Amino acid sequence: MGITLGLDVGTSGTKAVAVDASGAVLASALVEYPLSSPKPNWAEQDPADWKRAAVAALSQLAASPAVRCGDIKALGLTGQMHGSVFLDKDNAVLRPAILWCDQRTVEQCDHITSTVGEERLIEMVCNPALTGFTAPKILWLRQHEPSVYEKVKTVLLPKDYIRFVLTGEFATDVADASGTLLFDVKNRTWHDELMGLLGIPRSFMPRAFEGTEVTGALTREMAEATGLPAGLPVVAGGGDQAAGGVGCGIVRSGAISAALGTSGVVFAFANEVSRDPKGRVHTFCHSVPGKWHVMGVMLSAGGSLRWFRDALCRPEKAVASETGADPYEYITAMAEMAPPGSEGLTFLPYLTGERTPHKDPFAKGAFIGLSLRHTKAHMARAVLEGVAFGMRDSLEIVREMGVPIAQVRASGGGAKSAFWRQMQADINHAPLVTLNADQGPAFGAALLATVCAGTYGTVEEACDATIRVVDTCAPDAGRSAIYDRWFKIYQGAYRALAPGFQDAARLLG
Ligand code: XUL
Repeated sequence: MGITLGLDVGTSGTKAVAVDASGAVLASALVEYPLSSPKPNWAEQDPADWKRAAVAALSQLAASPAVRCGDIKALGLTGQMHGSVFLDKDNAVLRPAILWCDQRTVEQCDHITSTVGEERLIEMVCNPALTGFTAPKILWLRQHEPSVYEKVKTVLLPKDYIRFVLTGEFATDVADASGTLLFDVKNRTWHDELMGLLGIPRSFMPRAFEGTEVTGALTREMAEATGLPAGLPVVAGGGDQAAGGVGCGIVRSGAISAALGTSGVVFAFANEVSRDPKGRVHTFCHSVPGKWHVMGVMLSAGGSLRWFRDALCRPEKAVASETGADPYEYITAMAEMAPPGSEGLTFLPYLTGERTPHKDPFAKGAFIGLSLRHTKAHMARAVLEGVAFGMRDSLEIVREMGVPIAQVRASGGGAKSAFWRQMQADINHAPLVTLNADQGPAFGAALLATVCAGTYGTVEEACDATIRVVDTCAPDAGRSAIYDRWFKIYQGAYRALAPGFQDAARLLG
């Protein structure tokens, strides 16, 4: 039976999966790496770490007894979006990659907006200038590291650097290209006029393919390094959110997904290009050829919970490592001891600024409403509620845009906890379902590869054949009503604190 592979160059690690034609995951591998923050608000990674991790993860698949290498038909790529890898004329990496969650480019975003005009920019590329996107990173490099900029020949997104490593080809896909702010999302091609206005050479950017197209083949050198067959077709794939959308079957109108990883993403399919005139949600090309999607992105969703675990839950972590349990299970069990609304304790999850709905790189996290009554259990619950409220903010905007929400499909680490899933269903007033497929973007990339391999005729067919709902959490009207009241407090808290966040950012320089 034909096998396809998916490779996800993520923020905390690179994941590889091998999937058969029925969608069963035959093997998976995860290799982690660090993220460095050399200055406040900076986030960087060394592309050499991604390369090591990709080779190691693919080698583990090739060595798995469940995977017959002769049956592997194609490899699909996905990965963290918006990051920039700068290459010189010899294709050497010039500096660490600047990541999606890096907030250094406020000035460059202002420059883009004032040069082009906000409305015209949204008209041209469907999205406003946001600090995480790629174009402002290129301008930052030109302004702050001119001697490096002078040497730049090519700019690649993270997974496309790995594509180059695996195949020797420069290429990207239309979904990931949409997040550069240099892509004509409506016409699915690079926006020459905008690049001209910003003085960014068109030659920096690789050719953009639809998600199911072949972009190259595994080189002999990489075949030897990984144990995979030389010449294996490497498929365009998609940015992690579009590929994750495919992996959750969000390939037709109606269903929506809520992906809780480091970031938190509410993702909706779109048959036509539909823009939020306020630019609060992103409009990008989908990995389904000829289709689009809209999504709201929270920067610290699972990231907030990870912060809580690392900063405040050392004892729980220690017990978990002794018993071999997952520390998050202790945290959610602790959260269950507090009542809905956390007795007035509200958490703002803006630890790394926020995109949706605030577009505010200066926003910060906060616990508001602390009193003597509050315990760590309340704090744990408030963190889970704050993240779920942030996801509801995105969902409300998607609803406002006229997208029907019959069902929300949960994915990512946040889908693992039944308690958190129920909380999200209650907060969103919508059923939250889980799927048989829980391998996220890597699975979606492997499905895109099945279409290229000819196993399925279309992405929709591939999803219909492999993805099913396995569990549903229906909202509870009583709890939904309690959460509605605290959601208003949550929204008001940001509005009240935003000027203070700006002042604090100025003080920090
Ligand atoms: C999407 C986004 C993040 C990254 C990290 O716009 O910035 O979801 O792709 O996974």
